[in-house]
Amino acid sequence: MEYEEIVRRLRNIVTNPPIGLPKEKVKEIMAKYRDQCPRSEEAFDEAKRLIPGGVEHNLSLNKPFPIVMDKAEGCKVWDIDGNEYIDYLMCGGPIILGHNYPPLRDKIIELIREKGPSHGVTSEYEVKAIKLIQKHMPSIEMFRFFQSGTEAVMAALRIARVFTDKVKIIKIGGSYHGWSDQMVYGMHIPGTGPLEASGIPKECLKHTIEVPPNNEKKLRRAFEKSEAKGGVAAVILEPVGGESGTHPVKPDWNKIVREYCDQFDSLLIFDEVVTGFRMGMGGAQGYFNVKPDLTVFGKIIGHGYPSAGGVGGRRDVMSVCAAGVEGLKKRAYVGGTLAANPITTAACYWTIKFLEETNAPEKAAAAADKITAGMNDIFERADLPFFVYNFKSIIHYETTSFFAVRLDDKDALNQINLRRQLAEEYQAALIINGINVLAGTRMYVSMAHDDNAIQKTLTAWENIVKMIKS
Ligand SMILES: Cc1ncc(COP(=O)(O)O)c(C=O)c1O
Repeated sequence: MEYEEIVRRLRNIVTNPPIGLPKEKVKEIMAKYRDQCPRSEEAFDEAKRLIPGGVEHNLSLNKPFPIVMDKAEGCKVWDIDGNEYIDYLMCGGPIILGHNYPPLRDKIIELIREKGPSHGVTSEYEVKAIKLIQKHMPSIEMFRFFQSGTEAVMAALRIARVFTDKVKIIKIGGSYHGWSDQMVYGMHIPGTGPLEASGIPKECLKHTIEVPPNNEKKLRRAFEKSEAKGGVAAVILEPVGGESGTHPVKPDWNKIVREYCDQFDSLLIFDEVVTGFRMGMGGAQGYFNVKPDLTVFGKIIGHGYPSAGGVGGRRDVMSVCAAGVEGLKKRAYVGGTLAANPITTAACYWTIKFLEETNAPEKAAAAADKITAGMNDIFERADLPFFVYNFKSIIHYETTSFFAVRLDDKDALNQINLRRQLAEEYQAALIINGINVLAGTRMYVSMAHDDNAIQKTLTAWENIVKMIKS
């Protein structure tokens, strides 16, 4: 679906009253959910006493309580009550070959058995993995491993500042770059600035500038205004748009940002924590044909094996984070005991090998195309304004579109809350129909999502649509 059409349909949904499930159906769904998942409920009650909020993962489904998963295989997950689900959470994005892909698992088990999981110094997989990343993303002339996407983002910002000797960071509103102090700004919904920055001193956010997506005028102004205040070290963005395309960008947006970075001698950082290898072997940079100066990676390079993250890019830029052996010149101090551990680097190497061998990114994208077309057909036949769009194997389905409410819309904050709650009810309805998704809006597809899985997904939506219409 074209950018303009997505924006038009989102506006249509948010400027009309939200469509939720009938209240009596919601009661039935929640009762069935409880009935189906007693051990998950029990586990959650216990977890609440030990873990603040009862969960560690922001992506967990929370209504009426999170499901506790037992195992994952192929395109499926099973909870501790033995219920089976077609999974579209896919560990938040990195699983493209399918869960617990046997050839990859065998390589990791062999490594642990024969070599041990970590030793605190380099292993041969480190260089082998980087060479493979470089083969598919030529912008990666040098690379450093980190332990998560959040950490890699922190490193990229520091590297950019040391290299450019500038201070400001432009972040595109609505994007997610992890939870480090400087990046909890304008998260999830454009324009929200420090709304979620509790516990972060104002000073930490002083040099973060939020620019709305697709707004060239405000981008230019941010660059110009920063000139007298230390200059822009870098723009960081998610190349498919904030929250993996929840806030889609114009097809030429990345090129426009690239041009401004060149004009103002600033660096362009692509956050490919989700898109790297998922949007194709060349990542989103290959897809959009725009070359960033630095690229941030996370979970995607470990295919779900911990602890994965990395920054790569121009040789001259990356050189500023040289390790201790380079002497005492000015450098970006970064590191991590478990960074580049044998498990992560072996997982990275073998994942890319298997992606090459199986053509998994394209197979996953083809399955996503089928799901998108099937769901759109169901919504159209039911005469609902709901719709679905996908960027390769990243699917966004829009029911109440709480992410698309603009802060200057009437009653915006209440609308966001109400629409989010209704989307959570749809998510619970999906669970009782055997489908597990992300945040009530997103589905990551893998090569393992076969026609059976697709059919089951479409049947679940047919059932939900029937409930709406009942
Ligand atoms: C685009 C993007 N950047 C950064 C992160 C943070 O990665 P991590 O959860 O590994 O810290 C995420 C996590 O979902 C992400 O989606």
